[in-house]
Amino acid sequence: MKAIPYGRQNITEEDIQLVVETLKSDYLTQGPKIAEFEESFAKYVGSKFAVALANGTAALHLCTLALGVKEGDKVITTPITFAASANCIRYCGGEVIFSDIDPETYLLDINKVRKLLESAPIGTYKGIIPVDFAGRANDLEAFRKLADEYDCWLIEDACHAPGGSFKDASNTIQLCGNGNFADLAIFSFHPVKHIAAGEGGMITTNDKALYQKLLQLRTHGIIKNKNLYTNTIQLAGGTNEYPGWYMEMQDLGFNYRLTDFQAALGMSQLSRADEGVKRRRDIASNYFNAFKGKPFIKGQSELIEGHAFHLYIVEVKDRLELYNHLRTKNIFTQIHYIPCHLMPYYREFGWKEGDFPASENYYKHCISLPMYPTLTDEEQAYVIREIHTFYSEKY
Ligand SMILES: Cc1ncc(COP(=O)(O)O)c(C=O)c1O
Repeated sequence: MKAIPYGRQNITEEDIQLVVETLKSDYLTQGPKIAEFEESFAKYVGSKFAVALANGTAALHLCTLALGVKEGDKVITTPITFAASANCIRYCGGEVIFSDIDPETYLLDINKVRKLLESAPIGTYKGIIPVDFAGRANDLEAFRKLADEYDCWLIEDACHAPGGSFKDASNTIQLCGNGNFADLAIFSFHPVKHIAAGEGGMITTNDKALYQKLLQLRTHGIIKNKNLYTNTIQLAGGTNEYPGWYMEMQDLGFNYRLTDFQAALGMSQLSRADEGVKRRRDIASNYFNAFKGKPFIKGQSELIEGHAFHLYIVEVKDRLELYNHLRTKNIFTQIHYIPCHLMPYYREFGWKEGDFPASENYYKHCISLPMYPTLTDEEQAYVIREIHTFYSEKY
């Protein structure tokens, strides 16, 4: 059996053709593909605006910047996520306040966040970053209510969940990143994600002012709009009007742009996104049925409506042995994630073992099984068989 990773991209001939067409066009960057991708993506998630970026980390950074995070601002997030969800707070000098997960959903536990918010005067915490971990959507309606009570903003880290959704209190389906509850949502187009662009990211929002701020921050803080210039026409070198070349850098921004050929790849992948989510759900269903009732699986939730299944995670007995055994069989599982608060960088801020029992217990047992649309039935059956064999020899 060829090597089976935990996740991988699917590049078709059509993807390649679209990228090549863009490479042959007039624009490698700052061309028309960016706006096309943004429009299609906004439509896909149901938001008003979308801003394409170099990667998901840049997207998170611009979110915290646009929301005005500054030195010492306290922002709450989960320890069970990729470090970037927390790091974006530090990029602006803010203080990362971790809060434990719900051991059933693996998502930020809203009741624990509420306790944290209740324990300090309003204004102590500036924002909350829930992560749609593994592709499971947070109840953002509930988070929005809580955030409003405590004067906090909300960033949805939806990197794992394009195509995911939850049902709100009125039973309406709310797509991840649709901007109905979170101020800003972010996505990543890293190859293991649902939509691969090599590297790439997107912010979605329904807030026009934030959208315009993000556009400016993406390109060095530069604007090209004569109605907003603060320098005079004369200083700009014109007589009656601003000269054609003129632009103003009004804020300290970055070059966080996506290229046009990456956007072309993203667009092409986006056209198959629903197909991919459907296949992921079928794979999840196969795993669920294969391991239902087995004593070695410590945590396997029922198939959850709206789960986008970026990852298929179970909690198991003898995790290290299983991980190593599967490697000898050419099956490369992964662990998502080492709790952020135990990373040496964050331990320097005083976080320590024992701070978040649910997250730490989850980390002891979790394992991500192969999950990607091109995983064949035969390959999945092989993975399932090897896991059963491993445990049947032990118990
Ligand atoms: C939950 C989460 N947030 C943020 C990121 C950062 O995205 P990128 O790798 O595109 O910078 C990732 C990517 O791994 C992620 O999984």
